[in-house]
Amino acid sequence: MLTVSRLSKAFGRLQAVQDVTLQIKPGQIVGLIGPNGSGKSTLLNCIAGTITPDSGRINFDGHDITGAPPDRIFRHGIARSHQDPALFQRMSVLDNTLLPARQQTGESARRAPLHHLWRAQENRLAGRAGAILQRLRLGNHYVTRASDLSGGQMKLLELGRSLAGEPKLMLLDEPTAGVAPVLAYEIFEQIATLRGEGLTFLIVEHRLEILFDFVDHLFVMHLGGLLAQGSPAEIAANAQVKEVYFGE
Ligand SMILES: Nc1ncnc2c1ncn2[C@@H]1O[C@H](COP(=O)(O)OP(=O)(O)OP(=O)(O)O)[C@@H](O)[C@H]1O
Ligand SMILES: [Mg+2]
Repeated sequence: MLTVSRLSKAFGRLQAVQDVTLQIKPGQIVGLIGPNGSGKSTLLNCIAGTITPDSGRINFDGHDITGAPPDRIFRHGIARSHQDPALFQRMSVLDNTLLPARQQTGESARRAPLHHLWRAQENRLAGRAGAILQRLRLGNHYVTRASDLSGGQMKLLELGRSLAGEPKLMLLDEPTAGVAPVLAYEIFEQIATLRGEGLTFLIVEHRLEILFDFVDHLFVMHLGGLLAQGSPAEIAANAQVKEVYFGE
């Protein structure tokens, strides 16, 4: 589904991502781990199109998306959440969730004043957004301003907003950072349910004790490069990984 080939990205003299090659199959939950600064977010940003790689290729679902703008990559079916939630702070939870829906009739300046042209679509989209928010336990917060949510709820809202774009692949950058342990586990249970419905995930996560329970496959980065890959059991037993990641 996703193939990253020999991808590199430098910031000045710092090689943030170096010659990374990896593949993700449809329906997988894949973990991307590594110490702080090892290049995980930069790799995710290259895939999502918010950073243009210096070299290498990214193929998704039969399309070469290398260097494509983020909106086009989103239209191909890749949605992402950010390490630091990037919400529209002064908009409500529901409005944030309604944003990614495609081809909204009321978005056109010409049609916007003509309510009858888009009211039914708006209702349908709001119903769908509402169902997503219920699922993520934000059902009591439709009208809450995004800025008034807790850190954990902001993470959930980002996840919900990504889902509303009906993606095929979700890139999640530390979906449980700042979230209480019980809720963190619940987020991963939701991810597993969504995978059962056909979604594919690439997840950066520092909480390995949770991540390892849910992933099919893991990639380990170190100093911009790919250090190892394998099943959770293989990675847990890998001596090099233990050395750089767990400091053993
Ligand atoms: N926009 C940028 N400009 C300059 N340097 C950057 C930029 N973004 C990241 N870096 C540097 O690139 C390296 C990789 O950063 P990246 O954010 O990809 O790491 P990470 O693995 O996501 O780390 P963390 O686990 O702390 O989130 C780091 O040394 C970081 O300081
Ligand atoms: Mg990061």
